[in-house]
Amino acid sequence: MKVGEKHYRTIWLNEDGRSVDIIDQRWLPHSFRIETVDTVDGIAIAIRDMWVRGAPLIGVTAAYGVALQMAEDPSDEALQAVWHRLHETRPTAINLRWALDEMARVLKPLTPDQRAEAAYRRAAEIADEDVALNRSIGQHGLSVIRDIAALKQPGQPVNILTHCNAGWLATVDYGTATAPIYMAIEAGVPVHVFVDETRPRNQGAQLTAWEMVGHGVPHTLLVDNAGGHLMQHGEIDMVIVGTDRTTANGDVCNKIGTYLKALAAADNRVPFYVGLPSPTIDWTVSDGLKKIPIEERSGDEVSLVWGKTGDGEIAQVRISPDATPARNPAFDVTPARLVTGLITERGIAQPSREGLLVLFPERG
Ligand code: MRU
Repeated sequence: MKVGEKHYRTIWLNEDGRSVDIIDQRWLPHSFRIETVDTVDGIAIAIRDMWVRGAPLIGVTAAYGVALQMAEDPSDEALQAVWHRLHETRPTAINLRWALDEMARVLKPLTPDQRAEAAYRRAAEIADEDVALNRSIGQHGLSVIRDIAALKQPGQPVNILTHCNAGWLATVDYGTATAPIYMAIEAGVPVHVFVDETRPRNQGAQLTAWEMVGHGVPHTLLVDNAGGHLMQHGEIDMVIVGTDRTTANGDVCNKIGTYLKALAAADNRVPFYVGLPSPTIDWTVSDGLKKIPIEERSGDEVSLVWGKTGDGEIAQVRISPDATPARNPAFDVTPARLVTGLITERGIAQPSREGLLVLFPERG
């Protein structure tokens, strides 16, 4: 996507053919910073501390972490160790395990001297595939937006609510939930995006809103609790979110608060869609509530909020008493029954095992 006059992906290989550059998302929207990462430790920190975040981007970053390890030590032991080292960085997004498994699948049969080159090649392919998957999700999601637009007065925007950041910053490019929005803008279909701020880390206010500004998408920021009210008053035509892990029966795990949006959408008959590439489907799990590990992050993310002061300094402020403990579950699970459709690269699936198998019969 363009930032200023330049096109960026969220991660790319440097000219040295070894290290990667990433956009350090902790500073957005106030400061656009690029960091070079050239060690496995650096990759692990970037994922764990959310310099990069969003399920698909976490997976691609881990793939490059494996490549860095193979350039350093391509032994079987090192391959196994890097898998475990990176796998423990963030527990919920299944794309992390998918990418690590994919790298291991490609690398294990090779001799150690073949592994570094093959690892960088496969990591680059995974990055390119992510962009292609998101473009396909965009095309299928655009058809949903067009259908809703056709029911509105000519020129009236389709009002879309989104939660967290499932935009190009959460992927390599385009985003999952945002791809249909960007394609609607390109196609001249009027949309207006309501952006949930997404406490505690404010990925909506900081990242999605920044993306919307950058790409000229009409949008409005909402506090997390406002969506239900707007739905009751007919101000939201559809919800579209991303996901960190969707089960084989269509339960959708996504950023904390997504479930409440889905409940409000169901109560108000607002269609609730999820954009997801197939690496986000966990075919091994059916019961999302019981079987998906939910990341618990530091309570400091709840008690301390980042922002920019009037002097332009990026700083944290405390919003609760020092003595008040905070709990910070980072994701929740929206049961399949509350989901209208799963927008995948192969089309829109009913949120059920049968629905997913229509599009992915090889998984049956
Ligand atoms: O904690 P984060 O910022 O990594 O959470 C990201 C989300 O919840 C996204 O909605 C999800 O990863 C889908 S990204 C295409």
